[in-house]
Amino acid sequence: MVLFDLPVVARNTRLASNTKSPSIDRRVDELLSRMTLDEKVGQLNQLFYFTQFMKPEMVEPDIRAGKVGSLLFITDPAIINRFQKVAVENSRLKIPLLFGFDVIHGFHTIFPVPLAMASSWDPALVEQAQGVAASEARAVGIRWTFAPMVDIARDPRWGRIVEGAGEDPFLGSRMAAAHVRGFQDQDPSSPGRLLACMKHFAGYGSAHGGRDYDSAYIADAELYNVYFPPFKAAVDAGVGSAMSAYMDLNDVPATGNAFLLRDVLRKEWGFKGFVVSDADAVGNLVTHGFAEDKSDAAYRALTAGVDLEMSFPGNPVSNAYATSLTKLVQEGRVTKDQVDEAVRRILEAKFKLGLFENPYVDETRVATIHNDPEHRRLARVAAQRSMVLLRNEGNLLPLDKRDSKVSSVAVIGPLADSKRDIRGSWSFVDDVKSAVTVLEGIRAKVGPSVKVEYAAGVDIARAFQSPFAILQGARPAAWSEAQKQAEFEKAVSLARSSDVVILVLGQHEEMSGEAASQSTLDLPGRQVELLKTIAGLGKPVVLVLINGRPLEISWAAANVSAILEAWHPGSEGGNAVADILYGDATPGGKLPVTWPRSAGQIPIYYAHNITQEPETKKNFTSRYWDIPTSPLYPFGYGLSYTTFSFSNLRVSKPEVKLGESTEVLVDVENTGRRAGDEVAQLYIHQRFGIASRPVRELKGFERITLGPGEKKTVRFTLGKSELTYWSAAAKAWVQEPAVFDVWVGADATATLVTTLRVVAR
Ligand code: BGC
Repeated sequence: MVLFDLPVVARNTRLASNTKSPSIDRRVDELLSRMTLDEKVGQLNQLFYFTQFMKPEMVEPDIRAGKVGSLLFITDPAIINRFQKVAVENSRLKIPLLFGFDVIHGFHTIFPVPLAMASSWDPALVEQAQGVAASEARAVGIRWTFAPMVDIARDPRWGRIVEGAGEDPFLGSRMAAAHVRGFQDQDPSSPGRLLACMKHFAGYGSAHGGRDYDSAYIADAELYNVYFPPFKAAVDAGVGSAMSAYMDLNDVPATGNAFLLRDVLRKEWGFKGFVVSDADAVGNLVTHGFAEDKSDAAYRALTAGVDLEMSFPGNPVSNAYATSLTKLVQEGRVTKDQVDEAVRRILEAKFKLGLFENPYVDETRVATIHNDPEHRRLARVAAQRSMVLLRNEGNLLPLDKRDSKVSSVAVIGPLADSKRDIRGSWSFVDDVKSAVTVLEGIRAKVGPSVKVEYAAGVDIARAFQSPFAILQGARPAAWSEAQKQAEFEKAVSLARSSDVVILVLGQHEEMSGEAASQSTLDLPGRQVELLKTIAGLGKPVVLVLINGRPLEISWAAANVSAILEAWHPGSEGGNAVADILYGDATPGGKLPVTWPRSAGQIPIYYAHNITQEPETKKNFTSRYWDIPTSPLYPFGYGLSYTTFSFSNLRVSKPEVKLGESTEVLVDVENTGRRAGDEVAQLYIHQRFGIASRPVRELKGFERITLGPGEKKTVRFTLGKSELTYWSAAAKAWVQEPAVFDVWVGADATATLVTTLRVVAR
């Protein structure tokens, strides 16, 4: 449908945030010149709409009056088309609506949670998975996703650690770019793609105490070296929008923070997309004690650089722009140009997405796109590749379904047959019934010759009420005392009579994610008691973890033979667990976070500075007296069913001048008898300079597959961008003449090392 007699945007126009299109500029100018102030303000207003408890009549009058520019959370294509029709046929200017949704790790087909996807260390896989997610969401008329979340998280008490790529800026940057490419490809208007939104800008993962939304105090050096890089990588990958965070950063709320939104995002990085506030974050500037009232909040957010306000209906702090901006302009506090600048960015996005030409979605194609078997196949591969084998004493894994010694399997645990929890948070519109649990996956794998029986054993305590329960549905009632006793005994006796026990423990999906912080990393409920009782029976036990954050598993790590970290692996999770446990897939995932022994070690991350002689030296006192300072598992760690060796580490030029590059080469060999994947990881340490630098920093990685006995040379480039850091002393990016240690190996404790000297020109 062509509504304006103006040139249609060329299909191959790159819609990256860093490009401008003269034809779109003309169309925006023309439209802006015809808009009233109220219509402009309408474009800056985005509303939640929940089909579960709202009626179309509640928003249609405002759409018709041009008071709404965007809606979020609608996933029914009929409602999307219905609202779009009101906008493009019945409103004065016929400006289409932009429909957004949190497509975080899948839509109809659920992929592993983002923390798991990062554990794959496979950006190409992430890109493919988000391409599928985009196509499924686009099929119902969604054009914009609030993803990727690229917040660095170094505190696993923070529930949203599950939504990102973990603790490391280098891995996080590679993942951020992959997510953006997956959602948008070269052009988010092309078929099956979405506009991406990097969030939450910036520093949200550093919330005090790991409490969601709490304040963050981050010095500039840490902002630039740790928290900003994944955002910058997303901008460089062409991300079309950004979301301002909820919390305050160094006492200035991110949603009213001109340093973040203007100085860094626009001036330093040249970002040309638009900025949306997090939900009600504009009105919340009052709650922060930053804005005087809602009108002042609208003034502060708009002038700081928030273009679009996301609002929750019925919340007293919502609709700050809609209720105040017109008056603010009339009073002269906000200029017409400031409003036009924001409106221009929203219109630009709508033109670039082709919404004016194609505002509707074809409702007849939804089922075909959603049921493409390729989507489930990829979800299974993604889950296999994301799982991390943490322990495998005596090569208990893989199990052999033809082995008569494992002809009866007990699958035990509160998460073993939970369809809801296999998927992870932000799974709202998939067909939960079709999600495959671990029990189902194992049954399907082993066939009738192996007896597979199940007992939940314990239920997971839930003092906790998720704010998303309204969308996910309530959990069944907690067990009675009598039921608790009976279920526990049933599980123990099942374990006793079986050849092998697969114990599936962890946390409910809503125990991580938004508003899901925890003060400990404990396995909730009586899971540890169940674990210890069953492990005490002397049977072979495999522990499978279903969870969205590292958990306190020190006891298991010393006493249970095999531990597989499956995370929340998505719709095909149970099949993928079975593939790994029975050796049809070989684990190759690696931890994207340092795994603490207990919450008392937090914050713990590998790229810390060293302020004393290392722990290995006598008289080391920067320590806890009760537990080691080292983590339970290091960053980058993960086992395989085969073994690898690294050798022959060399730099092509041991001495380079400032600005020059060198190659780092290492030979990786599969020294075992099965094919498998290894992730070669390159770490550096700058020995001296005008700042202390972390003991190690990841600067390269590559996941490779090697057949038994196969050897491959992996190459990395170390150049200016890897050897540069942001210095607080210089208030600038610096590269210094210095000596660097260079390690390559299988995790952050790699020992194979060489040196590189950087000299002045
Ligand atoms: C979350 C965002 C999300 C938004 C819309 C907020 O509460 O912080 O990450 O995109 O809701 O659902």
